[in-house]
Amino acid sequence: MAVTRTFSIIKPDATRRNLTGAVTKALEDAGLRVVASKRIHMTNEQAGGFYAVHKERPFYNDLCAFMTSGPVVVQVLEGEDAVKLNRDVMGATNPADAAEGTIRKLFAESIEANSVHGSDSDENAAIEIAFFFKPEEIVG
Ligand code: CMP
Repeated sequence: MAVTRTFSIIKPDATRRNLTGAVTKALEDAGLRVVASKRIHMTNEQAGGFYAVHKERPFYNDLCAFMTSGPVVVQVLEGEDAVKLNRDVMGATNPADAAEGTIRKLFAESIEANSVHGSDSDENAAIEIAFFFKPEEIVG
């Protein structure tokens, strides 16, 4: 399996509870390497654009409000089949469905405040990485 990259967000519910290190440790323990990282406060334009694929969903406005409610940490992660590896360690979107030991089972508060985002495909990973990072900000 090839070494690939994925995009991750540590969401406002996790930064608010000072869990940036705990979440990053879980990612690293799973075999992922942080090759870019920055703490930002997303603008409405960034959140709306990033989640544009969900624009017609009933939770879109609440999701954008939540993602701009506090700081987030956007990261590029590298590892063997990074998209799948990251999704495995994140656990199911809804923490009620997340497996034991996953980040969302350990830390998420709700389906909205679910502590982390991770890309769902290599194609979307490339798009999402480019949304937040310049190539020179990624140091593998
Ligand atoms: P994320 O991986 O960031 O992608 C879209 C987000 O929408 C998802 O995680 C959830 O946090 C959020 N969300 C809020 N409500 C729902 C819902 N009912 N179904 C799916 N996702 C939801």
